[in-house]
Amino acid sequence: LKIGIINITGYAGAELARILSRHPEAQITTITGRSEAGKKLGQVFPHLSHLDMTIAPELGDSVDVVFSALPQVASAEAIVPLVRAGIPVVDISADFRLKSAEEYQQWYQTPHPAPDLLENSTYGLTELYRSNIKHSRLIANPGCYPTGAILALAPVIKEGLIEPDIVIDAKSGVSGAGRGLSLTTHFSEVNENVFAYAVEGHRHLPEITQELARLNVDFRPSPLFQPHLIPMTRGILTSCYATFVSGVFKDPKMAAKQVRDLYETFYNKERFVKVVSIPPQTKQTWGNNHCLIYPMVEPRTGRLVIISALDNLVKGAAGQAIQNMNLMLGLPDHLGLEGVAIYP
Ligand SMILES: NC(=O)c1ccc[n+]([C@@H]2O[C@H](COP(=O)([O-])OP(=O)(O)OC[C@H]3O[C@@H](n4cnc5c(N)ncnc54)[C@H](OP(=O)(O)O)[C@@H]3O)[C@@H](O)[C@H]2O)c1
Repeated sequence: LKIGIINITGYAGAELARILSRHPEAQITTITGRSEAGKKLGQVFPHLSHLDMTIAPELGDSVDVVFSALPQVASAEAIVPLVRAGIPVVDISADFRLKSAEEYQQWYQTPHPAPDLLENSTYGLTELYRSNIKHSRLIANPGCYPTGAILALAPVIKEGLIEPDIVIDAKSGVSGAGRGLSLTTHFSEVNENVFAYAVEGHRHLPEITQELARLNVDFRPSPLFQPHLIPMTRGILTSCYATFVSGVFKDPKMAAKQVRDLYETFYNKERFVKVVSIPPQTKQTWGNNHCLIYPMVEPRTGRLVIISALDNLVKGAAGQAIQNMNLMLGLPDHLGLEGVAIYP
């Protein structure tokens, strides 16, 4: 399979190349970048020098599938002609995640570049939408925070077990903000420091709300989502807090076991979503495509606590994008993605 990567020079693009370079059915044939066009990939990223490729300004030769790792808006502009030409595209940006062009404009402060294509895009949360992904030609790869939150909450929402006022408290490593320089991600601002940001509303909130609502027609989610920045490179730890609908458990003493059974059954066949028996840590997912989920019923309050951990650049971006590519092209979704986390 001939693969094109648009914008290899960001973190998501480089991570795509790292993982795809070990994929048994994929060959990266074109890579693009803006400021680094004309340079050898190994000059920009020495860890990728084994690919022996030059960064092109534009996608050239025909390819079987394209990944876009551009920022939003630039991404839609680059991929719309490809989508219209019928080329399968996985978009890692946020451009095709929200189904409402009005909501996109409200959160991204710009009109949507191709509102007519919003209906054609498939939200690529692999474990939940496998059959849709297989038949799609435009995948809106989920955001990193939404992946951790939605996978954590999906089983109890589908079963109608929780009230809509969910609290999603998430902590991200700094690579989630990308490779571009900013004061917020400057070493001396982040090191030995933890802070909440986007307290007025993060752009992933409408995505999370939209996708939680899809899980159950009777559910009108009202999530409170609060992200934090943590002094680490990769990883997202998400703690979700919810109240059970009154009377859903005949015997409240059995709630903890029933919830655990529900999660284990729901993700039973999944290679990359693991229900774990101790609270997960981000390091347990470093560099691999796993999302670890720990559901529990807090014994004093009877509330539901679900903690998930993932690597924002893998399951939260490039890894899930490759899982989706595999499905679109008729391959098993785990191909090229199996690997053990680097620990400690
Ligand atoms: N980082 C994550 O954990 C993560 C997770 C999920 C999704 N994503 C999404 O993945 C995409 C890339 O994110 P990233 O974190 O990899 O970003 P990044 O590391 O900040 O890279 C962004 C790259 O885009 C290039 N760029 C910026 N504006 C451009 C434009 N208008 N046209 C062409 N190139 C442009 C920049 O290169 P030059 O300025 O050098 O040309 C830079 O290399 C974003 O849409 C992001 O939302 C990221």
